Amino acid sequence: MTSYIPYLWQRMQALHDRQPMSGHTPGHKNGLFLPKPLQKAWGSQFASYDYTELDGLDNLHFASDCIAQSQQQAAQIFGAGQCFYLVNGTTAGLQAAIMATCSNKQVFVPRHVHRSIYHSLLLAHAQPVYLPLELDTRTSLPLGISTDTLQQYIQQYPNCKNLILVNPTYQGITADNIACVQLAKDHGLTVIVDEAHGSHLHFHRDLPASLLDAGADLVVQSWHKTLPVMTQGSALLVHKQYQGPSPEPFLSLLQTTSPSYLLMASLEAGSIYMGQQVQAHIDQSLQVIFELHSRIANTLQTLHVLWEPEWKQDPFKLYLLSDRLSGANMDAYLRQHHAIYSEMHDNSGILFILPLQTSVSWAERLYQALLDLDRFSLQQQTTHQTQASFYCRTIPRQCYPLQEAFYREKQQLPWREATGAIAGQFILRYPPGIPLLVPGEMITREIVQLWLASGGTEDELVTVLAQ
Ligand SMILES: Cc1ncc(COP(=O)(O)O)c(C=O)c1O
Repeated sequence: MTSYIPYLWQRMQALHDRQPMSGHTPGHKNGLFLPKPLQKAWGSQFASYDYTELDGLDNLHFASDCIAQSQQQAAQIFGAGQCFYLVNGTTAGLQAAIMATCSNKQVFVPRHVHRSIYHSLLLAHAQPVYLPLELDTRTSLPLGISTDTLQQYIQQYPNCKNLILVNPTYQGITADNIACVQLAKDHGLTVIVDEAHGSHLHFHRDLPASLLDAGADLVVQSWHKTLPVMTQGSALLVHKQYQGPSPEPFLSLLQTTSPSYLLMASLEAGSIYMGQQVQAHIDQSLQVIFELHSRIANTLQTLHVLWEPEWKQDPFKLYLLSDRLSGANMDAYLRQHHAIYSEMHDNSGILFILPLQTSVSWAERLYQALLDLDRFSLQQQTTHQTQASFYCRTIPRQCYPLQEAFYREKQQLPWREATGAIAGQFILRYPPGIPLLVPGEMITREIVQLWLASGGTEDELVTVLAQ
């Protein structure tokens, strides 16, 4: 097994061994004055490592010592040329990548991107050229963009030299993404990837590929979503051959000047775990996960795993459909009766993110709960039709560019009166945080219907552009 060095953690540990007295930030003074309820629950140990930029601990914004070494090692582990630790989630990495490459330029944007990408487009003053999605006919879930669509748009917009991709989708679908990267690179495009849900993909041959390995230029991953890393911990990976503008100055602009050392130590430990141990864990987990798929298929009558080999899905995403219940009802039942909390649900189903170390006992607890849910579902008389999800098949009509609409005067209307108005806000459900409509686009009857079908009401207010 290759051994890696915890460059940052060993410096933090060495400082800790000195039992330092804190005359600096943060105010809890290495855990000495932590509020009592927190001290009772956490102990003081955790907070005693909550350091700031002390002698020997380097500085994320001017990394030249242990943080630089730690990031360089992480780059090597993930197969990148450079790695930047992010303490403000993937959001900060996407903002920096898009500001560095797309400032005042056109960029191809598929319509199933997370809202953080639209926020990045706003910050970068970029000019989005939206790409229509392939949607699954049964569930209406987004499958991504096809190479035919991309080819057609590349021909139609020869000046557009940037492409954003999402790999995988929230539901774990990667579909045509590798071919899209290859097509884009053949045409000289810079490819930026939101790989928030794909941090583990590089590490096992039986998983769909990370797009960094397929040649994408800037890939941003939420390590906190699938790796054993604390919330907000993400990374921006730069391809070894990328020669465009560096995202580094933008990261400095966007991220806090007080990055958490606990978070950075967690990123470092997570990267070392991925380099040293994860492959064996994924091997074992895949067996357990596919065994769970078979048990669900063979023993449950109303629940089905969404699994289509041609979609090249991530097995660590378990998306379940029911013949009888909506995703919301399944989710509520599992929470109330089994204290099992899913990642999200929508009209069609319910989504779980499985651990990279999915043990037999972990899978068994989930299976037993699903068995109970299945029995409960069988008692229900109604048949649940999977409904239109919250995604647009066609590109909505744009009345004002995003940038202009964002800053225009707004007013509020009840949804009942919204048909024909122009959106002044992002219209989305959270999760997955993917806008159906963005500021400047027309609210049609179809949009109102999708809003109501997704649980919205006619009395709720929507922000529109003032007339
Ligand atoms: C597809 C996708 N991209 C980006 C993000 C933003 O990531 P983060 O929460 O790490 O900032 C999310 C968060 O849910 C997401 O689902």
